[in-house]
Amino acid sequence: MTTLATKPDASSQNRNDRSNSDRPKSTLRKQSSFAKKYGPWAVVTGASAGIGQEFARQLAAQGLNLILVARREEKLRDLADELEQKHNTETQVVAVDLASADALRVIEQATEKIDIGLVINNAGVENHGSFLDLSIDAEAQLLQLNVVALMRLSHYFGRRLQSRGQGGIILVSSAAGYGAWPYLSNYAASKSYVLTFGESLHYELAKHGVDVTVLSPGLTETAMADSIGTGVDFSKFPMRVMQPSDVVRSGLKALGRKASVIPGAWNNVLLFAGKRILSRRGVMKMFGGLMDKARKG
Ligand SMILES: NC(=O)c1ccc[n+]([C@@H]2O[C@H](COP(=O)([O-])OP(=O)(O)OC[C@H]3O[C@@H](n4cnc5c(N)ncnc54)[C@H](OP(=O)(O)O)[C@@H]3O)[C@@H](O)[C@H]2O)c1
Repeated sequence: MTTLATKPDASSQNRNDRSNSDRPKSTLRKQSSFAKKYGPWAVVTGASAGIGQEFARQLAAQGLNLILVARREEKLRDLADELEQKHNTETQVVAVDLASADALRVIEQATEKIDIGLVINNAGVENHGSFLDLSIDAEAQLLQLNVVALMRLSHYFGRRLQSRGQGGIILVSSAAGYGAWPYLSNYAASKSYVLTFGESLHYELAKHGVDVTVLSPGLTETAMADSIGTGVDFSKFPMRVMQPSDVVRSGLKALGRKASVIPGAWNNVLLFAGKRILSRRGVMKMFGGLMDKARKG
């Protein structure tokens, strides 16, 4: 389904397409300094669940209005209702498959008249298992979403932010993007792209007043972690699971300060050890060995 869900019927329009001019003045929100710098509107992809949903909640709490993007329209609408009730947030819901050919056109249409100051490029999927056992179509779809859609959105909104001379982009990578990760090969490679791309943009766009930060979470308690957990026994890994709220706080704090951030002290220790003590080959062998032990079935 590709629906610009801001328009499908009158009731949904009423629920999720509201402007401050419709509201009594007393309900208008005070703006935080974050909202002054990165508001008035933010786009969050993958807002129907997990880390993206948490981004939407924390940004609404800061006083930003939100364009919520993902495929599951009902989840986005429920979130929009919650944010409106709690924070008086204005929202637009865009139900679209970001891996589809017309995704960018749908998002352009939905946002062209809205002053976007922040883009959270978060939507992503993983496939785990032996690469040769995985569906090649599913792997190509993964690249379409994790890499191509993210790159296109960064280009489109990057130009808009550059021309307004202020704003921010957060790109969600992964700790798996820091080196080889056998049995998550294509996923890890897609996240390496995000990391390199985002750090490069951090440098390029800073000259135009646009802050870019790459957020690289370790294992985080979401549906994605549950899905990997069906095939991998995490208790065999030296990892500590983080909550999405802490991951998102870390990303928002780093925006405007750092090119990239790894949330969680323990994840930083592990990745520091990987970078400084082991060679790239050593990292590959370590994660390959751990995955050989941890893979179920
Ligand atoms: N959880 C972890 O342990 C972990 C660790 C490192 C990095 N990350 C990264 O964090 C990001 C968020 O992951 P998460 O853990 O929050 O996963 P999640 O709970 O599975 O949520 C993924 C989000 O992406 C959206 N999405 C998936 N495919 C889409 C598509 N084709 N078009 C539009 N939206 C799509 C989903 O919405 P719909 O299904 O409604 O479309 C959902 O909102 C991902 O980029 C992931 O790689 C996660």
